[in-house]
Amino acid sequence: MKKVFSYLKFYWWQIPLIFVLVFSQTLLELELPDYMSRIINEGILSKDIPLIIQIGTQMLLIALAVSALAITVSFISARIGASLSNRIRKDLFVKIENFSLIEFEKFTTASLITRNTNDVQQVQMIITMMLRMMISAPLYAIIGFSKAYALNASMSWIFAVVIPLLVFMIVTLFSLVTPRYKLVQTLIDKLNLAARENLTGIRVIRAFNAQPTQQEKFHDISEQVRVNSTILQQIMSFMFPGIMLIMSLSTILIVWVGADRINAGTLNVGDMLAFIQYATSMLFSFVMLSMAFIMYPRAAVSGKRIAEVLAIEPQINDPEYPKTNDCSLCGEITFENVYFRYPDAQEDVLRDVSFTAKAGTTTAFIGSTGSGKSTIVNLIPRFYDVTGGSIKIDGIDIRDYKQTTLRDKIGYIPQKGVLFSGSIDSNIRYGTVNAKDEDIVEALEIAQASEIVAEKAEGLEYLIAQGATNVSGGQKQRLSIARALAKKPEIYIFDDSFSALDYKTDAFLRKALKDKLADATVLIVGQRVSTIRHADQIIVLENGAIVGSGTHHQLLEQCPVYLEIAASQLSKEELA
Ligand SMILES: Nc1ncnc2c1ncn2[C@@H]1O[C@H](COP(=O)(O)OP(=O)(O)OP(=O)(O)O)[C@@H](O)[C@H]1O
Ligand SMILES: [Mg+2]
Repeated sequence: MKKVFSYLKFYWWQIPLIFVLVFSQTLLELELPDYMSRIINEGILSKDIPLIIQIGTQMLLIALAVSALAITVSFISARIGASLSNRIRKDLFVKIENFSLIEFEKFTTASLITRNTNDVQQVQMIITMMLRMMISAPLYAIIGFSKAYALNASMSWIFAVVIPLLVFMIVTLFSLVTPRYKLVQTLIDKLNLAARENLTGIRVIRAFNAQPTQQEKFHDISEQVRVNSTILQQIMSFMFPGIMLIMSLSTILIVWVGADRINAGTLNVGDMLAFIQYATSMLFSFVMLSMAFIMYPRAAVSGKRIAEVLAIEPQINDPEYPKTNDCSLCGEITFENVYFRYPDAQEDVLRDVSFTAKAGTTTAFIGSTGSGKSTIVNLIPRFYDVTGGSIKIDGIDIRDYKQTTLRDKIGYIPQKGVLFSGSIDSNIRYGTVNAKDEDIVEALEIAQASEIVAEKAEGLEYLIAQGATNVSGGQKQRLSIARALAKKPEIYIFDDSFSALDYKTDAFLRKALKDKLADATVLIVGQRVSTIRHADQIIVLENGAIVGSGTHHQLLEQCPVYLEIAASQLSKEELA
């Protein structure tokens, strides 16, 4: 919670203001019983109507002032709470955006979402509440007690009976409730996770008729949430009646003891009623405090979860002194004895990988699934850092570039096409907001995606649905390619980006790329020999190591692994 509280510094003048307002509100409110005592003793008992009206008017004014103050306090504290959670959310989001894939894998996406929504909300609730209660509750207790004591010291022993009773009850309930709140919070995490998995995997779940098992899983967790929340509610349902009972008990005690004294003439009716009110205020302050105590642990769990995210230092950072270079033909990529191991993995996925991709040439990667092709190309935009060796672009280690400089050089087309909800136009402009319209049209043309736009009545304004469910796999890939092309980078990385394209489109696309991207360095990961055979250099991977490199014809002669792949895909004539 420390981290969360540190955000309060942004409200350095609003918070003292709240304290002053609450202070005056409480003081005024606690004046009322005195007035009531006077209205009864001096007004009603002696039937002095003008005095009753006079004191009554004063009381009314005070009550109005109290209400106005209370409303103002609520306004300000609600604003602080909402603005504070907004700040936290923003900071969390910025932090998460800067996470490298390593951190994402550590937290999981579902948990990051819960932390940025539900947890922030918990924190907002407790902050808003504390702002209002932190001053008023102790004030009620102290002033209530001292006023009651001043009114009639001999009756204050009643507090010695009632307060321990109240404290005992609150502490008991508190100790029953707190562990369960923590449990419910983690269960809600699980529930979110299950719901997310179910919703994103709905197609597969349907196709495998797995609804019953999924439902069972979900029901299990949901049931646990139900049981625990029910118990929580049941325990809590004792709270208010219990408190009311104790308060009524104290009133009865006061009236019982007071009645004797009134008879004996040592106490008057007004004072007894005032005493009751002060006692009630004081006891009520305990209730307020206990509410805060019950909510606090839950919010503290949330605060901790937020702080955990904020405290993470991303493992991939900008260098202290970033380098730049001015080259005439940029985009040469060099891998020098690169080793790589995924965080927490047991084995290296890449072993001693060295090659150079010259500017203006095409380098292709081929190899069986899991051989490390995607891993190699993902190292270039620094999604991960190498664990050994180095990668250089134009002679400078990629870790010495600013990350933005580095990524500006690269047009990356992921293995699984990703589009964002919004128009086609906004998706293509994703990396280059200021792209000219001609550039967009050209990018779509090279990517063989013009026809997708032409088919839609809305053209470029056609709205891609969330998760890009309203375009086909091949369309998604072509639009992803167009997005990278519009950026006009020096280096293109196609991670198996042609896999969902039919052979004809694949061939057209490669031809267009060759014509238009003559100066660019192109890296293509491919499964089809036909896609990559014309590359200037083909690198054959097996189990994370290079087992051959050269042109198609060289490899056919020298590399048995390549020959085997090619033989399985091409006809005898093509191989010859
Ligand atoms: N995020 C990750 N964490 C741990 N291991 C991973 C991760 N991503 C991939 N791997 C492992 O690294 C190895 C290489 O994976 P990679 O994705 O590079 O293969 P690939 O050659 O691109 O395969 P495909 O042709 O199926 O796309 C695999 O054994 C895989 O299990
Ligand atoms: Mg891959």
